[in-house]
Amino acid sequence: MQLSNEDHVRLAKVIKAKYGLNLTEKKYLIESRLTNYVLDCGFDNFTEYLESVYADRSGIEMTNIISRLTTNYTYFMRESEHFRHFTEVFLKEAESRIEDKDLRIWSAGCSFGNEPYNLAMCLHEYFGDDADNWDSRILATDISFNALRMAKQGVFAEQALQELPESWIRKYFNRHVNGTYQVNEELRNDVVFKYHNLMEPIGFKKKFDLIVCRNVMIYFDEQTKEELINRFYDATEPGGYLYIGHAESAPKEIKYEYVQPAIYRKPLKGDEENE
Ligand SMILES: C[S@@+](CC[C@H](N)C(=O)[O-])C[C@H]1O[C@@H](n2cnc3c(N)ncnc32)[C@H](O)[C@@H]1O
Repeated sequence: MQLSNEDHVRLAKVIKAKYGLNLTEKKYLIESRLTNYVLDCGFDNFTEYLESVYADRSGIEMTNIISRLTTNYTYFMRESEHFRHFTEVFLKEAESRIEDKDLRIWSAGCSFGNEPYNLAMCLHEYFGDDADNWDSRILATDISFNALRMAKQGVFAEQALQELPESWIRKYFNRHVNGTYQVNEELRNDVVFKYHNLMEPIGFKKKFDLIVCRNVMIYFDEQTKEELINRFYDATEPGGYLYIGHAESAPKEIKYEYVQPAIYRKPLKGDEENE
């Protein structure tokens, strides 16, 4: 089914404004990912379907579109240098700096949950028996309800675990009779999955010691990226870190200090500058 230029321009504009995603060059992707869905909804053309989406005040139909148009590609140990830094630098510093043992970590754009579960595994490996003494539940957010639903279940094909050490698979997963692996209950409870659109204000009460937002901003234009990184900065504790994807470039004007590729830090006096 074909999307007219007019429908494409309008849809791309609405999605850019609401979710930051740039779909101006993605007419074919929209057609290929939405055609069957639109037919299943009982429409035989995009124009009428899109009219019903724009008229839907609840916004539910727009989130259905978004779940189909976002790229949720992710895997365990992706960009493993971040997990090395997390364990060898971030947690080491946090252990000596955070006296109340309240550790605030946010995986923003978590997709199917591989990233936050991976961080939770590293946390357990690092703290060992002391893990229970830390309040270290990881916040994991996304705009795709489909991805969030699957992330909460934490069920993965055996193949998806191939980058994880054998001992971690034994410790953190249960094997089902159908051959899939489910993250065990204890680790699932260490991650809180929530819907959050990164284009909206960050309303979480406390600031974060680490924000991980990898391979999400690739789809945003420069201005959207800059505004988001400024919001992240304000939501980061002084001395806290930001991890971005290695393929992503940070905006030229960035308040964080550069640490190493794809890793930034808010200066320890970072909040005083704003006062
Ligand atoms: C390619 S995945 C990256 C997953 C993981 N961070 C990683 O690096 O493997 C990008 C995720 O960002 C999410 N996303 C895109 N735009 C978003 C927005 N405006 N707010 C929140 N999440 C968004 C998508 O739904 C998708 O799950």
